[in-house]
Amino acid sequence: MNKRKTILLLLFLTVTFIRAQQISSPNGNITLKVQVEEGVPSYQLIYKNKNVIEQSRLGLETEEASLSAGFTETKTQKSSFDQTWIPVWGQYSRIQNQYNELAITLVQKEKKDRILIVRFRLFNDGLGFRYELPVQDDLNYLTVSDEITEFNLSGNHKAFCIPGDYDTNEFAYTTAPISEIREGMKKNLRKKGYESKATSFSVQTPLMLKTEDGLYINIHEAALVDYSAMLLNVDDKTFHLSAHLTPDKLGKKGYLQLPCQSPWRTVIVSDDARDILASQTILNLNEPCKFTDTSWIKPQKFIGVWWEMFTGDGKTWAYSDYYKAKPGKTDYASLKPNGRHPANTVHVKEYIDFASEQGIDAVLVEGWNEGWEDWASYRKERQFLFTKPYPDFDVKELQQYAASKNVRIMMHHETASNASDYERQLDKAFQFMVDNGYNSVKTGYVGYIIPRNEYHSSQWMNDHYIHVAQRAADYKIMVDSHEAVRPTGLCRTYPNWLAQESARGGEFESMGGNDCDHTTILPFTRLMGGPMDYTPGIFQTDLSYYKGEKMDQRVHTTLVKQLALYVTMPGPLQMAADLPANYKRFMDAFQFIKDVAVDWDDSWYLEAEPGDYITVARKAKGKEEWFIGSITDENPRTANIEFSYLTAGKKYIATIYEDGKNADWEKNPQSYNIRKVIITSKSILKQKLAPSGGVAISIKEGNKDTIKGLKKN
Ligand code: NOJ
Ligand code: CA
Repeated sequence: MNKRKTILLLLFLTVTFIRAQQISSPNGNITLKVQVEEGVPSYQLIYKNKNVIEQSRLGLETEEASLSAGFTETKTQKSSFDQTWIPVWGQYSRIQNQYNELAITLVQKEKKDRILIVRFRLFNDGLGFRYELPVQDDLNYLTVSDEITEFNLSGNHKAFCIPGDYDTNEFAYTTAPISEIREGMKKNLRKKGYESKATSFSVQTPLMLKTEDGLYINIHEAALVDYSAMLLNVDDKTFHLSAHLTPDKLGKKGYLQLPCQSPWRTVIVSDDARDILASQTILNLNEPCKFTDTSWIKPQKFIGVWWEMFTGDGKTWAYSDYYKAKPGKTDYASLKPNGRHPANTVHVKEYIDFASEQGIDAVLVEGWNEGWEDWASYRKERQFLFTKPYPDFDVKELQQYAASKNVRIMMHHETASNASDYERQLDKAFQFMVDNGYNSVKTGYVGYIIPRNEYHSSQWMNDHYIHVAQRAADYKIMVDSHEAVRPTGLCRTYPNWLAQESARGGEFESMGGNDCDHTTILPFTRLMGGPMDYTPGIFQTDLSYYKGEKMDQRVHTTLVKQLALYVTMPGPLQMAADLPANYKRFMDAFQFIKDVAVDWDDSWYLEAEPGDYITVARKAKGKEEWFIGSITDENPRTANIEFSYLTAGKKYIATIYEDGKNADWEKNPQSYNIRKVIITSKSILKQKLAPSGGVAISIKEGNKDTIKGLKKN
């Protein structure tokens, strides 16, 4: 199956003097230089003769040992690797993992031969490097006080960024030259709630940058395991960035025991923005899948008892308004129901009916269990019970009903960030799911973390999320985590971890809105680490429709752009987020959501510019079907869509879901048109997109009968 070609160790040498080592990417476009000058290690990255990262320091500082200077000896090892692997799901059905490697062993002779290894992997589209600490005589436990890694940029690049925060990523993006992001982010600070601003001026990763001379640079990390998440300190005068590890509330940035390693630090670079989106480097730097049997992992679409809690007409997760209720202690059956609780048996059956009729795999139900009455309390050691439904939610009856309609119910575990109690209940919670026919769970971490000395992105929590994914796999359960640390490609290792939110998702369209360019930035930032449960598919974009508390709220897209997001934001788990009643009003447009694939054989990024537009074509996994999504920011544009990936000589039918002539996200969002045309591999489609609009296209092979009467594009 997997073709393995490993070309081996070329060199092993010992040097005791200053010496620069150099390797190139397999295609020769990128060069990495590493040197140790007066005992201080540093690196430099060059793309086609342009500096991507200027000379930048490397190293770790710990309470027990300083590992960033004083190295008197280095050993160097070079090798090459080329292997193609098959992911369980994703944008591509085969992924080539090809790199040249340089491992530098740095030795502190005077400190009883202390060793730090820095391993660099240079791919055709970027660099990954990490620190490794092998077992050694004089070191065992380390408490990280700082990571010295620098990313010194060559100029005042345009940045697409969100502010450094230890607890949340749910911010609006700021686009500005680095010298202006401090002010820009201050003005743009729309997320309010549980936030823990980083102690220095910093931004989060994935950080997207564009240089004045057209280089696209993305900085992030891969395989965040047993370590805290990295933010980037910003010097907005010198344009020097450096690692800022998330501390715990004791101020410690990590607890290590040798042997151990850091996550990979990644720098992806190209002069073509499309290459950034197509990059598989972050996945390649993660460990292969840990499971032998993956047959139970199923990409899927779902609807949910969800959006109605956001539309402003008073629906809620809680069964009653008795805020003093205690899960497991209060007799909920004796409480007065508030009458605004949609997670009830009758209503959930309506969702199941709709899913079953429309071929949607699953129905998420939020607010089914005890604990929602004061779920933001941050006071309770037991905030929720994950095995105790509210009195109006009949688990057994719904299990049978869903099974009879060939639909799954998706479990919801909002933890309110009480991660320690979630761990206490985890096995029972998962067993409860298995016993009642659930095979996927949406987890949630709203609020400040309990244990109270942790942040969402600190080491303990990063291990918690992985623990949940691993334990879920023991029960053959798929996971969609909200408000967890942003992803770093771990879905390769744990492919049951289908999606994460970890950014400002679609829900914020009901809470201040997402900027028109938001989804043209997310694939260059948040999605670099893995799929996002963005919750697209809102057709009723103007929330004044509900005549509730959100009269002034609206989704910042056209209806058609909502369709295109299913293709531009790839993931194996896609929600059709709007209410069934709204889909019933636009069934011809809903057809696209029914048809669109969630797993792919191949993807072709046709046009891309962060903050402006994305056009991508994808082939459905194992099917002769293609889907195209194209989106634009607030500016209307004409997408140039080519079809050379289709088989030459064949005729195809393209069903085009396009913005209406006068469509506009603000003034006329629901204007759309659906047309069918014949296309071939030589066709070029010049497609108009409305302000914050898009186009969604499904393509099938045509035959004599199906193409009859259709026009060529
Ligand atoms: C925030 C999540 O992002 C949202 O999807 C969910 O409905 C609420 N938390 C409640 O759990
Ligand atoms: Ca959220």
